[in-house]
Amino acid sequence: MPTSLTDTTKLHNGVEMPWFGLGVFKVKEGSEVVESVKAAIKNGYRSIDTAAIYQNEEGVGQGIRESGVPREELFVTSKVWNSDQGYESALKAFDTSLQKLGLDYLDLYLIHWPGKTKFKETWKALEKLYKDGRVRAIGVSNFKIHHLDELLKDAEIQPMVNQVEYHPHLTQKDLLAYCQNHGIQLEAWSPLKQGQLLDDSTIKEIAAKYGKTPAQVILRWDLQTKVVTIPKSIKEHRIIENANIFDFELSEDDMNKIDALNKNERVGSDPDTMRAGFEE
Ligand SMILES: NC(=O)c1ccc[n+]([C@@H]2O[C@H](COP(=O)([O-])OP(=O)(O)OC[C@H]3O[C@@H](n4cnc5c(N)ncnc54)[C@H](OP(=O)(O)O)[C@@H]3O)[C@@H](O)[C@H]2O)c1
Repeated sequence: MPTSLTDTTKLHNGVEMPWFGLGVFKVKEGSEVVESVKAAIKNGYRSIDTAAIYQNEEGVGQGIRESGVPREELFVTSKVWNSDQGYESALKAFDTSLQKLGLDYLDLYLIHWPGKTKFKETWKALEKLYKDGRVRAIGVSNFKIHHLDELLKDAEIQPMVNQVEYHPHLTQKDLLAYCQNHGIQLEAWSPLKQGQLLDDSTIKEIAAKYGKTPAQVILRWDLQTKVVTIPKSIKEHRIIENANIFDFELSEDDMNKIDALNKNERVGSDPDTMRAGFEE
């Protein structure tokens, strides 16, 4: 089990990825994102998750530079958006992201959504970026088992990470097992279901028992299920709160109680029907 904010999971290519990071979806470009990134890094975070579609890569880059922490101590993720899928367009999108971030490499680059027809071509572009040393690890996001089966048929390099919606209302046990069997690290997006799980009576009861907050219980559950987690907050006190989860352990009984909350319920799009930005 990870014992601190800087503890890492070893991806299948040997790259160390922090178990915990900051998400910046819906965080406004400019001072809002700059200050969130700086607050996170100041409080010990080493991993930041952005995407081209979040339109805040410039601010993420600025926050990183102003943090004073050396680039090589940080783990930066971005993602290729749906409308940039395809070989040449994904290569170009990567260059644009790097330029906006003001970085000369990324730690992780993901295909944001599978879509239907182009993800294999896009994957070839990510393999090229990886082989050229421009990104330390490559992966996918929102891939279900059938998408992964399809990708793995021809992939030269297996994805190192699959970032999916994952929280106590969407526990995705089959997908988690599949990823673990294939050496793919699962990463949780919207781990707090965008705040919608914080009033759940079971979570609140467990939180009270450990003297922790509902958010801390959910994020600890992520780690104990061996899933990387990237909660978003723009408030420094919550950024600190969310990361304060390395000093307690949920019992097996409480883990089972949280697992039992599953309703296969999403707060975001279903990967099979998500079409925004796709021309297919
Ligand atoms: N790959 C994908 O398709 C995809 C999709 C969605 C998200 N993501 C990634 O995953 C990250 C996290 O997901 P998310 O931003 O959707 O949702 P989330 O982390 O589940 O929840 C964020 C919401 O919870 C609030 N919050 C955070 N900590 C809290 C606390 N301790 N107590 C009470 N409220 C708290 C935040 O408000 P405040 O900011 O006001 O504190 C915000 O409204 C994203 O930022 C993004 O990097 C990826």
